[in-house]
Amino acid sequence: MTDMTDIVALDAASWAPALAADAQDLAVRTLEGGGVLVLPRLAFPLAADEQRFLSPRWSDGRAKNISFDRGKLKGARGSADELAALSRMVARFAAEASTLVTTLFPRYAPHVRRARTSFRPQPAVGRAVSWRKDDSRLHVDAFPSRPNQGERILRVFCNVSPDEDRVWRVGESFEAVARRFLPGVRRQIPGEARWLSALHVTKGLRSPYDHLMLGLHDGAKRDLAYQANCTQQVVRFAPGTTWLCFSDQVMHAAMSGQYMLEQTIDLPLTALYDRERSPLAILERLCGRALAAAR
Ligand code: SIN
Ligand code: FE
Repeated sequence: MTDMTDIVALDAASWAPALAADAQDLAVRTLEGGGVLVLPRLAFPLAADEQRFLSPRWSDGRAKNISFDRGKLKGARGSADELAALSRMVARFAAEASTLVTTLFPRYAPHVRRARTSFRPQPAVGRAVSWRKDDSRLHVDAFPSRPNQGERILRVFCNVSPDEDRVWRVGESFEAVARRFLPGVRRQIPGEARWLSALHVTKGLRSPYDHLMLGLHDGAKRDLAYQANCTQQVVRFAPGTTWLCFSDQVMHAAMSGQYMLEQTIDLPLTALYDRERSPLAILERLCGRALAAAR
């Protein structure tokens, strides 16, 4: 096992690609092994009257991204007609991205729960943010207010810029990150999870798993020497490229680019082909104890 993250290209040009068995296999092994699956020929074409949405002026100036969740668009401004058209574009991407996932990973199909879709019309970097929110630092995704008990965060991204690559840095394997940062994660205080939930800081209980994942997220982002010197590679996603990864497993950092669509899918562990490769299983092996309620 090397600590380098696999970046694997798949030659599909449809949102419901017919794959040969070996390509299907490769897709599963790459994704669940903590790699990034890249589809350089899978674009999300915008209609003529959707080209206007390639502008930062649709952001409401408060939220970082425009998001679409359960039929509601948030973080955008425009007339009712414009917002309806923007919603239709984002909803179309949500449907295509879900189809892609259920086609590439048939085992996931009955479990796919579509979470939010986001449209990111702002430059990937440039806004001043705290180190914890700085996604140009390598991190695995873990959200303070949304504990997930080990469920997976699967994300489908598409670069819809007409002319600019989206550039990421991708770091080392999840296990390497965990081995490095686990020892520095502070202990959860008894009763802490219940208090955070009672005070509505978290939606539901922050399990030991969630606590550790936040610790890895913060530990890596806080450590500038690690950011500069860890095993990493630059990956460029050209315009018209779609890519997928488990963002709770892949160390990623957004370095530049503008205009991206992204679909988040929450996936229960039971959906996985091999749950032993999940962050929960890896952390439980390293810690020698259960870290979330069995499901
Ligand atoms: C992230 O998910 O951390 C950022 C991805 C991006 O903006 O390209
Ligand atoms: Fe992220």
